[in-house]
Amino acid sequence: MTAKPPLIAPSILASDFARLGEEARAVEAAGADWLHVDVMDGHFVPNITIGPDVVKALRPLVSIPFDVHLMIAPVDPYVEAFRAAGADLISVHPEAGPHLDRTLKLIRSTGAKAGVVFNPSTPPETIQWMMDDVDLILVMSINPGFGGQTFMHSQLAKIERLRKMIDATGRDIPLEVDGGVTPETARLCVAAGATALVAGTAVFKGGPSAYADNIRALRGG
Ligand code: DX5
Ligand code: ZN
Repeated sequence: MTAKPPLIAPSILASDFARLGEEARAVEAAGADWLHVDVMDGHFVPNITIGPDVVKALRPLVSIPFDVHLMIAPVDPYVEAFRAAGADLISVHPEAGPHLDRTLKLIRSTGAKAGVVFNPSTPPETIQWMMDDVDLILVMSINPGFGGQTFMHSQLAKIERLRKMIDATGRDIPLEVDGGVTPETARLCVAAGATALVAGTAVFKGGPSAYADNIRALRGG
């Protein structure tokens, strides 16, 4: 059986920040399914990127869902601001606060979908007792903080494990992978059970005229 082509979520972290709006429009026109927004605070991860005002400025320019990946601690005080700015999916790391369940319920209370992000060292069992509270699962195949890193093959077994946990719920929870995704590693992720792929470098390389081909290649041609 051939797996369904994965959803592609270009990470604007790899785009030209001086032309952010045009870049968001270009990837949407090139076939992107979601726009992945990496939010970093220089505290939870060793890099600083963007905040809710940038999400708000981009939101009217494209119509695809905004997949907002929060790499900030604390995270709860900022959830409502990102939702108000236009985030559709909001994902958090369990390590960002002491009460993951409370954070997921807070996200859902705003009307956004609630995602959990797994660092390379975070075990799948972290969400074993809260599958009902999760709308998206995001497996990091790098250490969060920077684009352009190399895919960690050790995470494929975790993707397989989480696939089984999702299937057991009977719910259609997207299983997304983030970090070092290329056409080659994309195939491995999909074979392991991933249904959505974040890609920065692999989408934005070559400039706007290459985006459609880059996205197609990630989907499997
Ligand atoms: C890193 C981010 C990723 C990153 C992916 O912390 O979460 O979304 O931008 O970039 P590539 O695809 O270049 O590995
Ligand atoms: Zn990300």
